[in-house]
Amino acid sequence: MKHFLVTILALASFNFLQIPSTGLQSDPEITTLKFKLNPFSLSRQCLNTTTTILSELEFAECINFPAFRPLFEKKNFDAIEQLSGDFNEDIKIIKSIEPALVEVSKDFCKFPKCQDRFIQSHIQSTIVACQEDLKNNNTLAQVIFAAFVFYSPLHDSVCFENKQDIFCWDEFVRNNISLPNFTSIEKLNNNNIVDKICTLCNRAIVNTFFNFIPTSFLAQVIISLKKVKEYKQLLAFVCGDDFVNGTIIDPKTGKQIPSTTSTYIPTSTSNSLPKNT
Ligand SMILES: *[C@@H]1O[C@H](CO)[C@@H](O)[C@H](O)[C@H]1NC(C)=O
Ligand SMILES: *[C@@H]1O[C@H](CO)[C@@H](O)[C@H](O)[C@H]1NC(C)=O
Ligand SMILES: *[C@@H]1O[C@H](CO)[C@@H](O)[C@H](O)[C@H]1NC(C)=O
Ligand SMILES: *[C@@H]1O[C@H](CO)[C@@H](O)[C@H](O)[C@H]1NC(C)=O
Ligand SMILES: *[C@@H]1O[C@H](CO)[C@@H](O)[C@H](O)[C@H]1NC(C)=O
Repeated sequence: MKHFLVTILALASFNFLQIPSTGLQSDPEITTLKFKLNPFSLSRQCLNTTTTILSELEFAECINFPAFRPLFEKKNFDAIEQLSGDFNEDIKIIKSIEPALVEVSKDFCKFPKCQDRFIQSHIQSTIVACQEDLKNNNTLAQVIFAAFVFYSPLHDSVCFENKQDIFCWDEFVRNNISLPNFTSIEKLNNNNIVDKICTLCNRAIVNTFFNFIPTSFLAQVIISLKKVKEYKQLLAFVCGDDFVNGTIIDPKTGKQIPSTTSTYIPTSTSNSLPKNT
């Protein structure tokens, strides 16, 4: 059941997180990532712990596990396995399974959001159990780790809808964005994708992440504050300063929503964590 969760979270984050670590997909430093979702690539301890955690009753109340089933139909799963970290290619793949993803999101968003306190309370044991996997850069372990750490902003981002009741991630996909092969923000600005990037939807999503990251020590292990600052500057340049001013407006209702913060407090710094890049 665990891969239902990690897969959707990984998909949801494709836009803003290079799982495990390097940032926006348009980042020139991007490294190719092949999803290795085979649970048997995990150490027994890591698999056991994550499976045990995810079978807790409280998860069943806030995560609609059966909702993820369509992702494991062969056609969809095969497509997911093709995700490579190349933005332009991945967006085509996502588009090809869009109807399944819409169904998954609808069912996923019907359930109340898990308490951050509850999610965060399991992070420490995941880090301990999956230490070796994380050290060995096991992709699935990294996805699980990132999914726990970013649960709160990911949940919000998956579930944001625009005024036409279309999921924000879907609006993004439908906008047929393809990123130019750019290395400088000037080139991005010259390209006529600005209208498709500077949307209410994207604004809500980026502010959700940008407000969350400074409150989470572990999020900063995955994406540094320096990177966040760079992305903010890039988006401010392209979309204007207000775009990243921290105010989160629900794109559907136009109402302001409060930021969520992380409640995780590390009990020890001696655990090996995935390296920040
Ligand atoms: C899995 O973990 C439980 C405790 O959480 C333990 O009782 C069990 O022996 C473990 N199984 C394996 C195969 O390590
Ligand atoms: C894991 O990734 C980090 C950073 O990319 C690298 O420095 C390290 O050597 C890798 N470890 C293994 C075991 O491949
Ligand atoms: C995206 O592409 C499809 C077909 O490839 C087209 O029907 C649709 O109008 C395009 N959407 C936008 C917003 O350009
Ligand atoms: C994009 O740029 C890199 C170097 O900056 C180059 O190696 C690559 O071939 C380019 N790709 C395309 C599709 O032009
Ligand atoms: C951010 O910008 C919007 C206008 O686009 C404004 O309504 C809001 O008050 C601003 N928030 C802050 C914190 O300045």
